[in-house]
Amino acid sequence: MKHDTIEKSLPLMVVMIVIALSWGGLVEVVPLFWHQPTTTPVEGLKPLNALQLEGRDIYIREGCHVCHTQMVRPFRAETERYGPFSVSGESVYEHPFLWGSKRTGPDLARVGGRYSDEWHRAHLYNPRDVVPESIMPSYPWLFENTVDGRLTPKKMKALSIVGVPYTEADIEGAKAAVDGKREIEALVAYLQHLGTVVTKR
Ligand code: HEC
Repeated sequence: MKHDTIEKSLPLMVVMIVIALSWGGLVEVVPLFWHQPTTTPVEGLKPLNALQLEGRDIYIREGCHVCHTQMVRPFRAETERYGPFSVSGESVYEHPFLWGSKRTGPDLARVGGRYSDEWHRAHLYNPRDVVPESIMPSYPWLFENTVDGRLTPKKMKALSIVGVPYTEADIEGAKAAVDGKREIEALVAYLQHLGTVVTKR
């Protein structure tokens, strides 16, 4: 009888759906804030250094995450190709994380150390020079633009508010560590760091 009333009234139906979905969402999401494996960094995890952090921002600015995921899923086909599957403890210092769900190019969660710095430079300058069939765009301006370190300490401070353990010394040295460096150096430093903490599982 009561169910009839809800089904026949659109506003009531909308309200009930919103309540049901919100409750479902909360039940799934809220426990994760206290679930140890999602809040505890994996052993050896360090925050990105100043140059890698700027590299990450260039990665976001250039939309690399639109074509590349950073999440090796726990399936044989993935682990055979990319290496150990990703765990949430690797991402506790990531704000926001760049896991993604759509791959136009390969997953990059474990790309660090797979190629030399020279390979990455050549590839980012013009992907077709090293992978003839590649459809990835070229990024020649990264070789001209320099990183502006004025905001780096502020970014680190903001991240430390949400729990990334940067020290005073990290923050103080940040501007000097990145100023005048080419954007390509920052981006390659970031790529070479990806997934290097967890190497076996
Ligand atoms: C339009 C989609 C697209 C965008 C945007 C894109 N890529 Fe790619 N990327 C690809 C494709 C496709 C490949 C595979 C072919 C190749 O190696 O070039 C690839 C390959 C790669 C590889 C080699 C991965 C491996 O395991 O062999 C790296 C590293 C990479 N991209 C980094 C980047 C970075 C950094 C950016 C941003 C500056 C970027 N990509 C932007 C599509 C994209």
